[in-house]
Parts: sequence; structure tokens; C-alpha cells
Amino acid sequence: MVYFTWSYPRESRGKGQSLNNHACVTGWGTYLPERILTNSEMEQLVDTSDAWIVEHTGISQRRVVADHETTSTMAVEAGRKALDEAGLAAEDLDLIIIATVSPDNYYPSCACQVQDSLGAKKAAAFDIGAGCSGFLYALSTASQFLATGAYRNALVVGSEAFTRTLNWEDRNTCVLFGDGAGALVLQSCQEPYGVRSFILGSDGSGGKLLYLRNLCARPGDWPADGKPRMYMDGPKVFKFAVGAMTDTARRAIEQAGLTQSDIDLFIPHQANLRIINSTIRFLRLPEDKVVVNIGRFGNTVSASIPIALCEAIQEGRVKDGDHLVLVSFGTGFTWAGLVLRWGVPAEIGKRAFSQAGAARGEA
Ligand SMILES: CC(C)(COP(=O)(O)OP(=O)(O)OC[C@H]1O[C@@H](n2cnc3c(N)ncnc32)[C@H](O)[C@@H]1OP(=O)(O)O)[C@@H](O)C(=O)NCCC(=O)NCCS
Repeated sequence: MVYFTWSYPRESRGKGQSLNNHACVTGWGTYLPERILTNSEMEQLVDTSDAWIVEHTGISQRRVVADHETTSTMAVEAGRKALDEAGLAAEDLDLIIIATVSPDNYYPSCACQVQDSLGAKKAAAFDIGAGCSGFLYALSTASQFLATGAYRNALVVGSEAFTRTLNWEDRNTCVLFGDGAGALVLQSCQEPYGVRSFILGSDGSGGKLLYLRNLCARPGDWPADGKPRMYMDGPKVFKFAVGAMTDTARRAIEQAGLTQSDIDLFIPHQANLRIINSTIRFLRLPEDKVVVNIGRFGNTVSASIPIALCEAIQEGRVKDGDHLVLVSFGTGFTWAGLVLRWGVPAEIGKRAFSQAGAARGEA
């Protein structure tokens, strides 16, 4: 008789290091599907117009996954770029967290698929679903594991093939969303870089204003034709969003012991240009401190903030020592905001280099 035996790879363990560690961002990367769906193409699908979409949302086009792409494949591509940028090998990762509400499977998690594809043999891996706030929930969570000294290296990804969930006959929702992925590598450090404060919140009573049922819902909760559909009360979500983004950003700044004038860059969730503009008006932030890319990508849900951050880095808008405010709202309702101090201390520069060298077999 042949017995199947399974030998567990050796996972990372809490190292019991000192409690006052920090977690700085050392790598970043995005993946965006090639297919661009323009507003004029949307006009062929539903009763809408380029003028309406631009005026009401600020969106001109969005990216849409091809048949061979999924949330996990996009997360892997973005994750690889982030690891390269950090000079780390996948084997160096202790933790992988994927923020998504459009995973390939109910189970296994998207994070486990990414762990396997990357070959991150000793990493713990799990998904976080908090709608459009998911990436900031994931970033705050990973930072805690590093700040306690339990783990040293983490990969945090926001990835969504959200257009696969859309009802392409509903003009109220299908024009708003797009697909993509953005990833950050975090490494523990002694100097105060990385997440300086975070505010996470939820109010489940808002769940009835934005939802998509899954297969496990009571059959009676499904639409009569049995097809699951996104439901959204756009104007009510809009009203909630502006209040939540403004209040959360203010509290995150205050909790970090800073004032608004200390903020170098504001990276809001990209759901609607009018939501962003109202928020920055309430916060009295100048436009040149705000990252906006919704026109080209639409709302990419959990991927929206990391994609915007990565673009800002590539455009040279983020400098060492800068204080960034990242803020989001989403289904749930959920909201999340944090202050991130940008930069990599010298100790990490060396460590990242020697780990990458070791992975390549260098002395
Ligand atoms: C959805 C949203 C863009 C609608 O914009 P709005 O200015 O609030 O528009 P309204 O809901 O007042 O609708 C105005 C009209 O436009 C119509 N309309 C909606 N979508 C349309 C479209 N794509 N093209 C043309 N007309 C459209 C509506 O049917 C309505 O028509 P009616 O007055 O005849 O009923 C906006 O409410 C919004 O962005 N809400 C937040 C959504 C969000 O962020 N969701 C993600 C959360 S993470």
C-alpha cells in the first residue's frame, strides 16, 4: 500500500524580537491588463455617453482582464515587481496578504495561490476582504506583524478582476469599475518609517446599500432569475464616502501627531472624481498634493490605492521623509486611513541587498 505523506515546509515563526519595530516600504509594483475599455465603447453596451460618465465620475477609460488573467495572476505579476524593487527573493517573505473581493476561488485563498506561484515557501498567506478599504486594512495588518518583531518581510497586494462581477446591462454600476493590481513589500526596521498611524472602521448597517450576494446566500435573497448582481445606491454611497474620507484622513493625521501642513501627498481611493474633489475641499488640501488617476483606470477597488501610490512613485512625487496620507471607504461599510512615512533606513538597504545576493548564490 502506498501512503501519501506530506512534509510541511518550514514556516516563519514569531521571533520574539523587541516590540518597537517599524515596517518601511522597500518595494512596489503594479500590473494592469492591456485591454482598455473606453467610454465610447461603453456607449455600445448600455444607454450612456462619454459626456455623462466624465461629468459624473471623472472616468474616461478602464482596464479589463483578458481571459487568461485573474486576480491571482495579476497579484503575482505586481508582487514579483515589488520583490525585485526591494531586492528580496520570494523565499524571504514571512507573510503574504492579498486584499480582494474578486478572488479566483471561494477557497483556497488568493494569497495561497500567490504564495505558490511566487515560491514563497515559508510565508503565511491569507486574504482580506474589506471592499475598497481592503488594501489599507491589509497594510495596517501586515505592519503590526512586523512592528511586533514576529516577522521581517511581508508582501501586501490589492488585486481585483472586479469587472468579472459586473452586470454589463446596468449603466448605474458597470461604467464605474476596472481591473488591476498593486503591491508593496514591507520590511521591519528600527527607524520610524512606514505606517505612523491608522484608523480602521466599519458600519455593517451600510451593507444593504452596496452588495453582491454569493453562492452561500439564502436562495430567497437571490434575484428572481437566479443571477447574482451587484446592488448599489450610488447617491447614498456618495454621501457616506465624502464624510468618511474627510473624517478618517483628519483623524489619521492627528493620531500621527501631525497637522495638515505636514502632509506631502494625499492618496485617496479612486471611486469618483467628485468624491475626491469634495474631500480635498473639506480638508483644504491643494490639488498639487493629491494623486488622481481615476480617469484612466476607473475604480479598481482594493487595487486603487496601491496603483495610485506606485504611479506617484514612478512620477517622482514621493521623496525620502515625506508623509503620505492614504484614505479609503468601501462596501461594508468600511473605511480606512493611514499616515505613511516614506523612506528606507540604511540598515535595510544593506539587508535587502545581502538577502537578494544570497538568493542568487552570491557571497
Ligand atoms: C453612481 C454615481 C456615479 C451616480 O452619479 P449621480 O450624479 O449621483 O447620479 P444619480 O444617481 O443622481 O442619477 C442621475 C441620473 O443618471 C442616470 N444614470 C446613472 N448612470 C448613468 C450612466 N452610466 N449613463 C447615463 N445616465 C446614467 C440615472 O439613471 C439617473 O437618471 P434618472 O434621474 O432618470 O433616474 C454616483 O452616485 C457615485 O459615484 N456614487 C458612489 C459610488 C461609489 O463610489 N461606489 C463604489 C464604492 S467603493
